Amino acid sequence: MPDNKVIKITDNVSWVGVLDRDIVTFDVVMETKYGTSYNSYFIDAARKTVVETVKEKFWDTYLAKLKQVVVPEEIEYIVVNHTEPDHSGCLSRLLEIAPRARVVGSGNAIRYLRDLLGFEFPHLIVKDGQTLDLGKLTLQFVAAANLHWPDSIMTYLQEEKLLFTCDIFGEHYCNEGMFDDVVGDFDDAFRYYFDVIMKPYSKFMLQAIDRIRPLEIAAVLPGHGAVLRKNWKKYVDLSEKYAKEALNSQQANRVFLGYVSAYQNTGTIAGMIAQGIKEAGEIDVDLCDIEKMDHGTIEKKISQASAILLGCPTFSQNILMPVYQVFALINPIRDRNKPAAAFGSYGWSGEGAKIMTSAMSNLKLRVLDDGLMIKFTPHHDMQEKCIEYGRKFGRFMLDRK
Ligand code: FEO
Repeated sequence: MPDNKVIKITDNVSWVGVLDRDIVTFDVVMETKYGTSYNSYFIDAARKTVVETVKEKFWDTYLAKLKQVVVPEEIEYIVVNHTEPDHSGCLSRLLEIAPRARVVGSGNAIRYLRDLLGFEFPHLIVKDGQTLDLGKLTLQFVAAANLHWPDSIMTYLQEEKLLFTCDIFGEHYCNEGMFDDVVGDFDDAFRYYFDVIMKPYSKFMLQAIDRIRPLEIAAVLPGHGAVLRKNWKKYVDLSEKYAKEALNSQQANRVFLGYVSAYQNTGTIAGMIAQGIKEAGEIDVDLCDIEKMDHGTIEKKISQASAILLGCPTFSQNILMPVYQVFALINPIRDRNKPAAAFGSYGWSGEGAKIMTSAMSNLKLRVLDDGLMIKFTPHHDMQEKCIEYGRKFGRFMLDRK
């Protein structure tokens, strides 16, 4: 059955988005068991305005919906709250048939779009608090950088009290009812979306929520999932609660000490380093053999730690896969400047620490030194060296306060 549904939200605002029931994973990192939607909105003001577009593969469906509510040539503004291609994917083609349209977004959004589209286009860069007269209706822009890209803003339609938020307050959930009071319970999808997409940016989420608290809001219109017309406050409050929980869970003096060990040499070094760290002061050491730990658990532990130590033996002039996977779980925005160091056992060349500390620096961690490598087994004379390395790391953690 063709998807040709357009939904009236108010007299002047319509949902012209598309439903994606078949998507299995999103951005490679998220499973989407409920599918998703790409929500685009049309504002029928004197200056006809579109807010977000949809993923490129849905162009035909999207255009057919747009044509139900507007002659595309008459579109004057296309607001891009966030430029990721699931929202900007149809922008290029829309600009072809809407030659009068100016793209409205943050400075970062316009810069990103130049690279995404590959051509220059008419645009208007807007800042926090700035307004745009659409003719009897007025847009007001609200800064929301890093939710979850540096380009992100929210857009408030003053007269109708509608807040367009793109990814913020959204979830991957596909239901043609579209409204929060119609689609059924989607709280688990909302929580999962927050955990995967927004949680690393919890600090910015709280700032954005502070900015919208003074606004009188009738409904929140996100870029994915349900239109929040009845329970928007619940989902804003939940986002605030989740963000505060995430920030509070970061413990001041807690080190994630993760290692892999083939013959328990690196494991023994890890234990002695842990002993040294504890001797340095009031520091909680989370000593973990990561080989069989699931990624979600490791990511949670890293997010809660204030420092990161990784151990790996050198194998064939390289380190082992589980440690590379840990690097994929480090978020340079969330974990920036956390003290870090590397260690391991080696037999011949011992490049492990160098490979790990290099990756740590690239991930914006604050690296102690070149790391500690011990040849084969940490025998008696090496044990004090390992313990002292732990003390040194502990002092490094405590001294930076
Ligand atoms: Fe829904 Fe960050 O894109």
